[in-house]
Amino acid sequence: MKKLLAIATFGVMAFAYQNCAMCHNGSMAIKLNKLTPAQIEAKMKEFKAGKGNPMMVNIAKGMSEKEIMEAAKKYGKK
Ligand code: HEC
Repeated sequence: MKKLLAIATFGVMAFAYQNCAMCHNGSMAIKLNKLTPAQIEAKMKEFKAGKGNPMMVNIAKGMSEKEIMEAAKKYGKK
């Protein structure tokens, strides 16, 4: 049971992360590594508050603050 839970949790996280690059590949939306993690985080918080691109608002609303931070770190400028 514990193992199942771990797999389910990992699945959701992997999905959220793959999600970003799916659109942010430089053709449909800008590459996220053009922004610093702090800039991504700030934008995501605006989206989460309902401001900006409706597609992003939906995505941000489905993410926790922790997931936003992790995604910003992973995809932002290194
Ligand atoms: C379904 C497609 C799609 C997915 C998935 C997606 N985005 Fe977006 N995103 C967009 C579009 C479209 C825009 C608005 C166009 C633009 O600014 O390039 C945008 C804009 C943004 C912006 C603002 C860029 C700017 O300079 O104004 C940020 C930051 C961002 N997305 C972060 C993310 C993160 C983080 C994820 C993953 C958790 C993600 N996006 C997943 C389509 C998507």
